[in-house]
Amino acid sequence: MLCLGIETSCDETAVALVRDGRLVGQKLATQIDVHAVFGGVVPEIASREHLRVLPTLFRELMEESGHAPEDIDAVAVARGPGLLGALLIGVSFAKALSLSCNARLVGVNHLWAHLLAPGLERSLPFPALGLLVSGGHTHTYRIDSPVEFELLGKTLDDAAGEAFDKVAKTLNFPYPGGKHVDELAQETEPDRKLFPRAFIDNPSLDFSFSGLKTAVAVHVQKHPEVVLPRMDDVDGASALGALLPDAREHVARICASFNWSVADTLRIKVERALKKTGHMKGLVVAGGVAANTMIRETMADLAQRYGLDLVLPGPALCTDNASMIAYSGWLMAELGLQHDLNLEAVPRGRV
Ligand code: KG4
Ligand code: ZN
Repeated sequence: MLCLGIETSCDETAVALVRDGRLVGQKLATQIDVHAVFGGVVPEIASREHLRVLPTLFRELMEESGHAPEDIDAVAVARGPGLLGALLIGVSFAKALSLSCNARLVGVNHLWAHLLAPGLERSLPFPALGLLVSGGHTHTYRIDSPVEFELLGKTLDDAAGEAFDKVAKTLNFPYPGGKHVDELAQETEPDRKLFPRAFIDNPSLDFSFSGLKTAVAVHVQKHPEVVLPRMDDVDGASALGALLPDAREHVARICASFNWSVADTLRIKVERALKKTGHMKGLVVAGGVAANTMIRETMADLAQRYGLDLVLPGPALCTDNASMIAYSGWLMAELGLQHDLNLEAVPRGRV
C-alpha cells in the first residue's frame, strides 16, 4: 500500500510517501526564516505559505519518486493539534487528492505520529511509555498499539520547547533558540540549585514550566551582561560566537542549569508514570525537544535503570515532518481505518 502523508500543522510544509512501512521519499519546506523576523510563528502567514508551497512539494515528490498520483492508495493528513488555518490547508488538499485519486483518506493525530515515527527506523516495543516533548506540547502516554494511546500527563502551562524558546529569547539567541541553549549547556556543568524544578512536590503526572522560565528571566534581569546584542545589530549566530569568555561561561551556566531543571523534571514525571502503568517494554521519546543532548542522556539512563527498550528517533524525525504522518496513516490504513470527507481539522483538545 502506497500512502502519501501531508503535514501543515505549524511552520513546516511537508509531504512524504511510505510504501509497506518504508519511506519512499519526502519533501519539506521550513518557514523558519519567514517567521524569524517576528520572533515566533505568525498563524496567517503560516497558512498562506502552506497554500503557496504545498502543490509544488507534492509535484516534486511525485516526479522524483517516479509515481503518478493515481498510484496513491491512501492520503494521510495531520488533522491536529496545530494552527487551525494551517491545518485546514493540509486537510483540504488531502480531501481533494483522495477524491481525485480514489484513495482512502486518513486523518492523523500529529502528536501520536511523532511517537510512532521511529517505527520507520526500527520496530516499536508495545506496551510503551511515550514522552512527547515539542514546541507546543509536553505529554506522557501509555501506548498499547499504534492506535491505542492513553494520555497520562500534560503541561498545565508552557510546553518544554516553549520554555526553551522563551529562555533563548530572554538571552536574545537566534530563533528558534532551543538548539542554541542545548549547545551552550554542553560547555559547562549545571548549577542544580540555580533554578527550580516546578510542580514536582505533588503526586501529579502533569508538568508546569512557566515558573522555571520566569526564574530564568528574573536571573537574567539581575545580570544584563549575559544578554546578547540585539539581533538587528549583529546576526544571531555570530553574536553567540562573539560573547566574551566571562559572559559566555555565565550564559553557558544559565543554559546548563535551565536544561538540567527541564531534564530532571521530565525524569521525575516519567519515572512516576512508569510506577503508575506497571511493566512497560519500551520508552519512546519524541518531538523537537527529544533532540536535546541532556534530555537524551537522562532518558537513556532512566531506560537502563528500568530495563526498558529506549526508542529515540534520529534528529530529522524529531522535528516536524511528513514521513511520520505518512507512516502513521499507513499503519491506520493497514488496520482498515479511514475517514470520510467530513474529516475535520482539530486545532486543540481531543484529536
Ligand atoms: O516538534 P517540533 O519540531 O515542533 C512542534 O510540533 O512543536 O518542536 C520544536 C521545538 C522548538 O521549541 C525548538 O526550540 C525545540 O523543539 N528544539 C530543541 C532542540 N531542538 C529543537 N529544544 C532543546 N534542545 C534541542 N536540541
Ligand atoms: Zn510537532
